[in-house]
Amino acid sequence: MNNTDLEKSKVIDESRQGEALILGENSNNSGKKLYIESYGCAMNFSDSEVVASILAKDGFQTTTNFEDADVILLNTCSIRENAEVRVRKRLHDFKKQKKSQPELVVGILGCMAERLKQNLLDEEKLVDIVAGPDSYRDLPNLIEEVGTGQKAVNVLLSREETYADISPVRLDKGGVSAFVSITRGCDNMCSFCVVPFTRGRERSRDPQTIIEECKNLFEAGYREVTLLGQNVDSYRFNMTSKGEIKEENLPTTNFAQLMAMVAEVNPLLRVRFSTSHPKDLTDDFLEVMAKYQNICPYIHLPVQSGSTEVLHKMNRGYTREWYLERIAAIKKFIPDATISTDIIAGFCGETEEQHNETKSLMEEVKFDFAYMYTYSERPKTLAERKYEDDIPEATKSRRLTEIIDIQRQNSLLSNQKQLGQIQEVLVEGISKKSELEMAGRNPYNSKVVFPKGNAKPGDYVMVKILTCTSATLIGEIISQV
Ligand code: SAH
Ligand code: SF4
Ligand code: F3S
Repeated sequence: MNNTDLEKSKVIDESRQGEALILGENSNNSGKKLYIESYGCAMNFSDSEVVASILAKDGFQTTTNFEDADVILLNTCSIRENAEVRVRKRLHDFKKQKKSQPELVVGILGCMAERLKQNLLDEEKLVDIVAGPDSYRDLPNLIEEVGTGQKAVNVLLSREETYADISPVRLDKGGVSAFVSITRGCDNMCSFCVVPFTRGRERSRDPQTIIEECKNLFEAGYREVTLLGQNVDSYRFNMTSKGEIKEENLPTTNFAQLMAMVAEVNPLLRVRFSTSHPKDLTDDFLEVMAKYQNICPYIHLPVQSGSTEVLHKMNRGYTREWYLERIAAIKKFIPDATISTDIIAGFCGETEEQHNETKSLMEEVKFDFAYMYTYSERPKTLAERKYEDDIPEATKSRRLTEIIDIQRQNSLLSNQKQLGQIQEVLVEGISKKSELEMAGRNPYNSKVVFPKGNAKPGDYVMVKILTCTSATLIGEIISQV
């Protein structure tokens, strides 16, 4: 293999996106091969790029074929029980190979590793390495330890680690859009959520390293960055989570200021961000968002429930009214903004009336897009300790179906509103369905498909929207930007 070979790596998103095949470029000629598969949220995918970078320095090349690999790593998710079940099933696929290639190293990274720790080694005999999200710098040592015939575990969480100095090996699709991590961990303690236990305390990354990474991406041809954190609005560099300044001589940067800095890297670089938390979304930030053309007018603002009582039990830190006021603020500052959300059906004790409040909130806000789930109890969370998971599965599913039905209508409505518009689309690549069509995204984050003409990945084209399904806009190129 040479250093221009393009390799594929997989990302499987349990929390939000569908399955995607990702391309990445390799940077060394050594014989050792790494296969890495990511589950869960974008943070995990972004972490896999950090892992690929750390192991590239240790002589590893990525491969898309696990049968070629010397080391197989699964970067796992614990958000719902299903996410963990998928990973355990996937492990079975590697059994045959481990038999015929006993020196094969299999490692579990990410949230399942952090949650289950040493127990994973006892439960899954195939696994050699268990490494939590803050221990990736240690992976070369852990792999070496396995080479001496031992199993290796590092699940220490850190208050400092942000991997700020590591330049991720991009494992993405075609070099147009990249994730840039800006915070790690979460201090919110929503009662249903396992993330604070698997990712540890919230910490913000040095803004200079973020800007540097975005500049490098732009120079390498990327035209879109998505700034990532569990709660991007609480980004605060040089502050402890209690709001105390860490070092007097370092400037403090908040999320609004960071966004402005990233937007100024280049007007041709689109800037996105995920996830915003309703309790922390400030007018200052919305003002910055409205000011810069290249900050995409799209906000993902998870509501979880339309009932103030349920929100209180979820420990979300806001009411229905507060949420609706934040939606009104978004519309005031950015009238054309699209808004998506996350909703959980059947949380502990949720009554039919409370479920109806979620439905009425959906009717009122008319989200452009939503990710919807049934509640899945997670060990150690506040909800597990304090409340009974008492809504029967059949009721949870029925409620989920009802909210999905409302959302289907709303998504269709959202796409129909865009018919006839001429929109700037950033071209990402060939469409999945046809070689003759390209696919890209408009600023609102909708997928747009159109006959390819002369468009190449990374180009901006003006597309007239002609028809739509509930998931995709279909149009034709009017002009190249
Ligand atoms: N930090 C993000 C969420 C990360 S998890 C935020 O605050 O929005 C992504 C989504 O998974 C959550 O918004 C929630 O809707 C869902 N989720 C989290 N824990 C869950 C659980 N125990 N059961 C069902 N859905 C859950
Ligand atoms: Fe979980 Fe809440 Fe943190 Fe999101 S904000 S990661 S839902 S604890
Ligand atoms: Fe899953 Fe961990 Fe992300 S639990 S959603 S991979 S932070």
